Amino acid sequence: MPKDFLNNVVSEKATLKDVLDRLNQGALGAVFFVGTDKRMVGVMTDGDVRRAFLKDATLDMPATRFLRQKFTSGRANASHEENVRLLTDEIRHLPILDAKGRLVDVLSWAEMWRMPIMEPVLAGNEMKYVMDCIATNWISSQGPYVKSFEVAFAKYHDMSYATATCNGTAALHLALTALGVGPGDEVIVPNLTFAASANAVIHSGAKPILVDVTKNYWNMDPAKLESVLTPRTKVIMPVHLYGHPCDMDPIMALAEKRKLFVVEDCAEALGAEYKGKKVGTFGDAACFSFFSNKVITTGEGGMVTCADASLYDKMMVLRDHGMRRGRRYWHEVAGFNYRMTNLQAAIGLAQLEQIDRFLASRRKIAQHYTAGFKGLPGITLPPEMPWAKNIYWLYSILIDEKKTGITRDELVRGLEREGIETRTFFYPLHHQPPYRSSDPFPVTEALSARGISLPSSNGIKPGAIERVCKDIHEKIEHHRVMNRALKATVK
Ligand SMILES: Cc1ncc(COP(=O)(O)O)c(C=O)c1O
Repeated sequence: MPKDFLNNVVSEKATLKDVLDRLNQGALGAVFFVGTDKRMVGVMTDGDVRRAFLKDATLDMPATRFLRQKFTSGRANASHEENVRLLTDEIRHLPILDAKGRLVDVLSWAEMWRMPIMEPVLAGNEMKYVMDCIATNWISSQGPYVKSFEVAFAKYHDMSYATATCNGTAALHLALTALGVGPGDEVIVPNLTFAASANAVIHSGAKPILVDVTKNYWNMDPAKLESVLTPRTKVIMPVHLYGHPCDMDPIMALAEKRKLFVVEDCAEALGAEYKGKKVGTFGDAACFSFFSNKVITTGEGGMVTCADASLYDKMMVLRDHGMRRGRRYWHEVAGFNYRMTNLQAAIGLAQLEQIDRFLASRRKIAQHYTAGFKGLPGITLPPEMPWAKNIYWLYSILIDEKKTGITRDELVRGLEREGIETRTFFYPLHHQPPYRSSDPFPVTEALSARGISLPSSNGIKPGAIERVCKDIHEKIEHHRVMNRALKATVK
């Protein structure tokens, strides 16, 4: 059975360079030494290699000089549980030996233990409300939780109307279609966003026109908007990315001056504020997502809020196959089935009841991370402009390779090995086939190449955040020492 760990097995003749190469290529942070009789003789972790170089070792030295001959191992004939119990914060890769001391497997911490980037907390009335749906037989979109969730959501935003949908992309498409966006129209979309923002535009028949984002808060740059407007522009779509609001005043002023609609994409920023006012209350319509990684979730789900009764009416009709409200099976337009089910809405309502707690915990998570990165050069922390309240949907940072000595992608791989899930920033839309453009987008390019989001679940514990920060510190230190050793050898 081919196993990944075989890439991390070397003979006693290996040099430090061989060990480094194996560490860089393999999925484990340790290399296992096997003697001519096939018995395992020692182990070297990336920490051991680092310490060797700190003692002025060079790449051509035999690695066995620095070998850890005393190491903890599991037994092939022990139970899985017994072996797992030997894994600790220090021993993250456990060699499993047979009765003759031969290496037969490696048990890795990362296989046993994952820190997801985002997982839902379903600790309120979710179960109770879902059970109620089942007990009453209301599981489709006809049940009463849909209305209750919509009313509560609208109230939370102090908006007149909220329309629940089956997901956030459908919410965007519904809003654009109800505003009359179609072929021949253009919609301004930031280049740095999840593709759903632009996809909704394309599916409405219009063309997404990309605009660059700002260096300091990573969102649509209002100063660049005017240059992309044409007589065909119909909508500006600000996306409040990673939990930070867009600078809404200049966007709204331009929209008013040029008689354009504004559709806010709030998928990643429920509860964020601009100048003390919640996002989703500025545009003609605002769209939310309740996918399972969002601040509140319904599994899949979305919502559109608006203040205008006729727009709301159009969306209600379009959401339900274009059927006239109050006249069943009479279709005024060819609509969609974008309805949310009662089961989803039941979860959504229970989630919304907990939103204050979720948002408070997100700010604490951000404080913990920020404290954990103190004094670490080369890391740009997530922005919070003086006019903004960031909800830190994903705690996201930028890595400066020149100062840290590690590339963003090396860091992602290193954390992956420790079982820590991260997410790189979105690729610039203009690099991808459906949205290709040859215009320059220098800020989007720079952020996209350097950005990484860290585990940010509502329920993540301070100890877990400390672990992520400690691992990042270690990975950076490791690369600093390695780079120095490599440079010394090349000389
Ligand atoms: C910025 C942005 N817009 C739109 C969406 C689409 O939402 P959904 O996945 O619910 O369709 C998402 C989320 O996934 C998003 O992050």
